[in-house]
Amino acid sequence: MSAPNKSYDPVEVATLSPDEVQRMVDDALAAVAAASDLDELKAVRLAHAGDRAPIALANAEIGALPPAARAEAGKRIGAARAAVRTALAQRQDELETERDARVLVEEAADVTLPWDRLPAGARHPVTTVAERLTDVFVAMGYEVAEGPEVEDEWYNFDALNFPPDHPAREQYDTIFVAGPDGTAHSGVVLRTHTSPVQIRAMLSRPLPLYVVSPGKCFRTDTLDATHSPVFHQIEGLAVDEGLTMADLRGAIGAFVEAMFGAGLRTRLRPDFFPFTEPSADVSMECHVCRGASTRPGAEPCRVCRSQGWIEIAGAGMVNPRVLVACGIDPDRYSGFAFGLGIERTLMIRHGVTDIRDTVDGDVRFSRAFGMEA
Ligand code: DAH
Repeated sequence: MSAPNKSYDPVEVATLSPDEVQRMVDDALAAVAAASDLDELKAVRLAHAGDRAPIALANAEIGALPPAARAEAGKRIGAARAAVRTALAQRQDELETERDARVLVEEAADVTLPWDRLPAGARHPVTTVAERLTDVFVAMGYEVAEGPEVEDEWYNFDALNFPPDHPAREQYDTIFVAGPDGTAHSGVVLRTHTSPVQIRAMLSRPLPLYVVSPGKCFRTDTLDATHSPVFHQIEGLAVDEGLTMADLRGAIGAFVEAMFGAGLRTRLRPDFFPFTEPSADVSMECHVCRGASTRPGAEPCRVCRSQGWIEIAGAGMVNPRVLVACGIDPDRYSGFAFGLGIERTLMIRHGVTDIRDTVDGDVRFSRAFGMEA
């Protein structure tokens, strides 16, 4: 076997000399290191690793070498290209990491800042008005009493002195609950008013008795601007020795002044409810015009329709028959009662003209009342 041919073919390929290749690599690595962003690096890649790069051109010269020298030159060029590729890949990584970090800083959103703009809910005004009404009476020593929404007909009507076939029952547009066998008359109704809580309170609490009971009521009404099949009332009941209609007036007056403003007068006119005798329809002086709109030539008032008075409640002295039904001696005790609509109170107090706003569930309606406690 002959020794390696050290005497080169006279064809010299300067670009393939180790020095020259090393220079190309050094140039390339310097350019890679100098690239300060991804665009610059892209240009460097084209210039030093592309088809027209010095190393690529040198590579093309390998064929011109004598066969014995080709392998070594090929290795040299291969190593040079690998060195440039590695440097490019490393720099690419570095620059991408830098860019990502910069983007994170530049496009950062401080999610901790605008917390107060998160949509805040609001308590429903029916709830807050009911609580205010309740508070007025609790402040006068009344206790809060509750009863079921699905109620025995006996509490809703019979014990309140509505005889079975009395026309007054018809006025209550009752929703009857079907019996388990599908019978319409199961003796159970959705309570049409909060007055059955009066009966429950008289049957279960010691005398004297002062209670208020806010709660949900149901009637077969179709939902429109002034009717809702589900609504709320608050009931008041006092049973004590020596109570008179003057006490009823005092209680009503206190509530009107607390809810609508000091100095407002109240008016009682005869009415009929089976469970009170005498019964009254309670009105308050219009809290907006205070009666001014009734004078000839005066500005009309939208709130009281220029009547000067606004009906707000039904009331009366507890009918002795109701006291007797609850085992209370009507010769010793007397009582007064009143009931009013919470939606109606809300509408009067805040000028709400469409009761549907209270059931639509649009939080913007509730929010308009603020976070009233
Ligand atoms: N329960 C009656 C209704 O819904 C309102 C009412 C009237 C309640 C007179 C009372 C009262 O306590 O004394 O129409």
